[in-house]
Amino acid sequence: MNITDIKPYLLHQFRSESELVKSINTLSDNFTKNREEIEDYHNDEKLISAYAAFYLTTNYPKFSYCMDYLKEYEDIFKESEIIDIGVGPGTFVFSIGDYFNWEVGTIYGIETSHLMKKQAVKIKEGLYSDRDIELVSKSSLIPKKTKQRIVIFTHSLNEMGNKAALKYIEDLDPDIILFIEPGTKPLFKEYLVLRDELIKDGFDCHYPCPSNDTCPMHDKDDWCHQYIKVKHELEVSRLTQLAHKNRKWMPLTLGLYLNDKIKFDKKSFARIIRTYPDTKYGFKWDLCNQKNELITVEVLKRDYTKKENKLIADFLAGREISFTVTKKLDAYWRIKIEGEIE
Ligand SMILES: C[S@@+](CC[C@H](N)C(=O)[O-])C[C@H]1O[C@@H](n2cnc3c(N)ncnc32)[C@H](O)[C@@H]1O
Repeated sequence: MNITDIKPYLLHQFRSESELVKSINTLSDNFTKNREEIEDYHNDEKLISAYAAFYLTTNYPKFSYCMDYLKEYEDIFKESEIIDIGVGPGTFVFSIGDYFNWEVGTIYGIETSHLMKKQAVKIKEGLYSDRDIELVSKSSLIPKKTKQRIVIFTHSLNEMGNKAALKYIEDLDPDIILFIEPGTKPLFKEYLVLRDELIKDGFDCHYPCPSNDTCPMHDKDDWCHQYIKVKHELEVSRLTQLAHKNRKWMPLTLGLYLNDKIKFDKKSFARIIRTYPDTKYGFKWDLCNQKNELITVEVLKRDYTKKENKLIADFLAGREISFTVTKKLDAYWRIKIEGEIE
């Protein structure tokens, strides 16, 4: 999705690039304010249009990068009805549909802000008029469940909080829940409470946690988050530079939960939750292992070819890994990666 594609369908037509950049900066300041004030932009056509121009275009590619981490769940997505909560200008409804070539049923989006919904409808009518998309303002307008259902929270849990999210989950009765949320510490601390509620309600955490045990970060001044490295369209990339915002390395909170009606064998693995700068000798990571324990590990460069080392250097937090321990030192374990390096 490029700026040129979306521009004719913005609610507000920006007179100049600098007017757009100014609005993006106002919006971005808004997002770093208190949670009580975070919704201020919902009633301003100009800020909503800036959101669509900047955040829709930079968030749009996220879904396909997230699917790199969730590849084996693709069929589950294709077989389900999909409901995006807090759809905004339509970001993930469009990107999910495009990702699956629209070979999925109706994709629903729920949006409570009247202007944001108006913006989503305008882009839908301009760019996706022949696609099966339903945008509504509340959960009671979603038709009765007819097959397995995925509910997705996309940068919206961050605004609505756990109580509202749990109400949607109760009303919509999903079998699968996906979170694609900002990778920030305040969000993580709240999300962790929601994770425990979902596990208590019978959901199994499939991503990122290797098990449903207590998160090893729960009592730490730290947070678990993942990274994606995103390649943007040229015009989008230029706008990120003009606005001085890094939208290339994107931290995120990605979470996938399945209930017991979905038959899916969960693999046993560990997950990289932090990467450190590599040294002459090796790579150092923090891993969360199969028992949800935090361990620091080192992978020696001498154990791999030049090509493999190049690939390992690109490993990001969020990636799963199988390994054997070659040496247990006091401060960390030395490991060897199992399987092919790709
Ligand atoms: C940051 S935007 C995210 C938009 C879009 N999902 C994206 O990722 O680009 C958050 C959206 O959530 C919506 N929202 C906040 N609380 C909501 C609620 N209780 N129900 C539905 N939508 C809500 C807001 O109106 C806003 O459009």
